[in-house]
Formats: sequence, C-alpha cells, structure tokens
Amino acid sequence: MNEVMKALLERRSCKKYKADPVPQELIEQVIEAGLYAASGMGKQSPIVVAVTDKKLRDRLSEVNAEIRGNAGQDMFYGAPAVLVVLADKSVPTAVYDGSVAIENMLLAAHSLGLGSCWIHRAKQTFELDEFKALLKDLGVEGEYEGVGNCILGWAAEPAKPAAPRREGRVYWVK
Ligand SMILES: Cc1cc2nc3c(=O)[nH]c(=O)nc-3n(C[C@H](O)[C@H](O)[C@H](O)COP(=O)(O)O)c2cc1C
Repeated sequence: MNEVMKALLERRSCKKYKADPVPQELIEQVIEAGLYAASGMGKQSPIVVAVTDKKLRDRLSEVNAEIRGNAGQDMFYGAPAVLVVLADKSVPTAVYDGSVAIENMLLAAHSLGLGSCWIHRAKQTFELDEFKALLKDLGVEGEYEGVGNCILGWAAEPAKPAAPRREGRVYWVK
C-alpha cells in the first residue's frame, strides 16, 4: 500500500493529549497541507486562525462547551493547539472548501506523528461578537463562517482501531 493510502486508512481522531506543546514548524506544515486543499473554482476561500495561546485556546474550548451544553468540559481533550478553519461566506462552496482543508490537515498531522481531531461548533463560536472582534483584530476583512476546529497535539494514548465500515454504501453502475 502506498504511503498516502496508508495514512488515509490509518488516521484516527485523537481524544486524549499530552500537555506538551507542538513545535511551530510542525503546525506550519499542517496548515500548509490545509492551504493546498482543493477549493471550488480554485477560490481558496478558507482561512486558518492558528491558536497556541493558552488563554485563547481555553476560551475557545469554554465557549464550545457552552454551545454544546457541556459547560466546564475541555472540548479539546487537552490538545495545546487549535487550528480554526473559517471560510469566506461570499463563496458558494465555502463550507465544502473549509471541510476539505480540515481533512487535509488531519491527514498531514497523522503523517507527522501528531494526534488531531475535528471539533465542531466553530460556526456558532464565530457568530459571537467576541470572536467576530477577534477576526477584526487579526485584520480579517469580510464575512467568514466557522467551519471547524482542527485540534493538534501529542497523543496521550494509542489510537483505537477504526470502526468497521458500514456496508451497503457503494452503488456501482457499470
Ligand atoms: C464534521 C465532523 C465533526 C466532528 N465533531 C467532533 C466533535 O465536536 N467532537 C469530537 O470529539 N469529535 C468530533 N469529530 C470526530 C469524530 O468523532 C470522529 O471522526 C469519528 O468518531 C470517527 O473516528 P475517526 O476519525 O477516528 O475515524 C467530528 C468529525 C467530523 C467529520
């Protein structure tokens, strides 16, 4: 099996992390993989807010937990880095573009030996004034929709095997 196929089949979501930080150069490689994802009409609509600042990382988790109705829980499983992917609302394929960017990042993380997981509710998070203000402070112009949070870190436990694939999901027409 080639390396890409192997990564595609072996990547798993990590739901327990060590507190150790992720070196900046690894985070940059993961981001680059996201930026190279396919996008509708090649518009490259997604942007990434890369968060390693503990205060903001914790606040994102806190708000995510409130949205989910899990107040007090760390929704990022201890992961020290969060890559929030948002996409330009004026682009019709924005959410699709952001989704494939996140998948690229999850796979890149796996290939680099990092744990990762998609954490939902970026949409609701970035509808809040507090986070709209953050984007403004970062110099983001225009309207952006949160697509997902890609959490990154060092796995604190071995990955569980993949669930068996549900059958009957492929319809061949030959
Ligand atoms: C759109 C999407 C949203 C997800 N949201 C969450 C989430 O909020 N919290 C979480 O723990 N995992 C989340 N996941 C990860 C899934 O739980 C995980 O992909 C699924 O259990 C299958 O496991 P695997 O990724 O190891 O194959 C999400 C995955 C996707 C694709």
